[in-house]
Amino acid sequence: MTKLKEIVDSCSYRQKFHIQPTTGLLNDPNGFSYYNGEYHLFYQWFPLGPVHGIKHWYHVSSKDLVNWKDCGVGIIPTEYFESHGAFSGSGIVENNKLHLFYTGNTRNEEWIRHPYQCLAIMDSNGEITKNSEAVIKDLPNGYTDNFRDPKVFKDNNKYYCLIGAERKENLGTIVYYESNNLLDWKFKGEIKTDFFGNGFMWECPDYLRFDNKGILIFSPQGLEADGDKYQNIFQSGYLIGDKIDFSNGEFNHGNFNELDRGFDFYAPQTTEDKHGRKILVGWMGLPEIDYPTDKSGWAHCLTIPRELELKGDKLIQKPVKELELLRGENLKYSYTLNNEEKDIVGFNEKTYEFICEFSNFTGKYVGVKLRKGIDEETVFYYDIENKKLVLDRSKSGEVFATEYGTERKCEYNAENLKVQIFVDTSSVEIFVNDGEEVFTSRIFTKEISTGVSVFADNNTNVEINLWKINI
Ligand code: FRU
Repeated sequence: MTKLKEIVDSCSYRQKFHIQPTTGLLNDPNGFSYYNGEYHLFYQWFPLGPVHGIKHWYHVSSKDLVNWKDCGVGIIPTEYFESHGAFSGSGIVENNKLHLFYTGNTRNEEWIRHPYQCLAIMDSNGEITKNSEAVIKDLPNGYTDNFRDPKVFKDNNKYYCLIGAERKENLGTIVYYESNNLLDWKFKGEIKTDFFGNGFMWECPDYLRFDNKGILIFSPQGLEADGDKYQNIFQSGYLIGDKIDFSNGEFNHGNFNELDRGFDFYAPQTTEDKHGRKILVGWMGLPEIDYPTDKSGWAHCLTIPRELELKGDKLIQKPVKELELLRGENLKYSYTLNNEEKDIVGFNEKTYEFICEFSNFTGKYVGVKLRKGIDEETVFYYDIENKKLVLDRSKSGEVFATEYGTERKCEYNAENLKVQIFVDTSSVEIFVNDGEEVFTSRIFTKEISTGVSVFADNNTNVEINLWKINI
């Protein structure tokens, strides 16, 4: 571990303000909750290298969603019901204790998998005690061993547990259980969506309620690419509808929308804090893809936290306000671009927050370039004619996952364009017009490539605010 840590620490792609593993691999956020005056967040962790080995839960906590305290390993798989890993799950506070539900992954000698749904309880001292046995031990008929990622919540004085599942006919779905005491669970059936039939396995279900609306979030595997949509190996998105009727699983809803348009986003999880804010954190990575940091003994990080709002039939995702704590020295510029690209001279940072507002644009495109250097740049622009937002990472540095393309696009109708971008050493998170679209991506750029520019092929006004990161 000491040797591995030395290699990891010397990697030039280590992030500055994102949650990342000390060594090894991070994947899904888990157990995200507000408990005892703090946010608690866990993540899937394999300590010994950048591979999906036996998963642990690593624990961090924060009072402000920006400064995270390292609380060490939260769940180490030691019991027969989690022999091959403590897989993803969620947290719910009851009786002043944080109840953590997760999937115990097991395999027998023939490598046949059996998933258990398990419970561990954390007290106000941060002490985590596992229940002596799993709370859901059997698989209901009709489902494969891809049966995991419990999301537990309360609705009308009953507890419900959503589980990501695969039907025996290789179709992804979500099933649910009901309980009065968080210990005894009764299988109720499937959440009945019109999206059924898309994908072979639906991972990491989550459920949010806004007034009279219900929002089901999940990560389906096996969607076919469809135009600009579903370009990543696996997707994450949501269905908005009336609240789910848990007496029969009925869910009347609209289209499936992707949560993020970037290259690296998966398995998000939400929580609600004491102010009633709904906050989402995702895994800034994807399964089954090799990343340039693998050779340095680590992989992946979590996204910055986003506050969710509902606007019509769309989720709006804004970086949480507390991220302003990261703002250090501020530089402001105001330009009129006249069919040109303008470098922001004298700003050479690898980590920063960047807000750029374009107005009165006509022509074909307006955009920004980040982490510019010799032969390197990450380009984000609005294609005015085709009404599309485009992220191009073909020249972002070390290339990877190129079989899934080097551009991500989505349809967008803009008259004005405000982009707010969080640039960390090896990532960009781009929020468009206050959270209407988000593009999250890793980039592996040379340390010396630190240029920033704005460009337009027409006469456009642009207002720029840059903040160095204060950490
Ligand atoms: C999603 C996922 C979950 C599973 C976990 C294992 O990325 O496959 O379904 O619980 O990762 O680490």
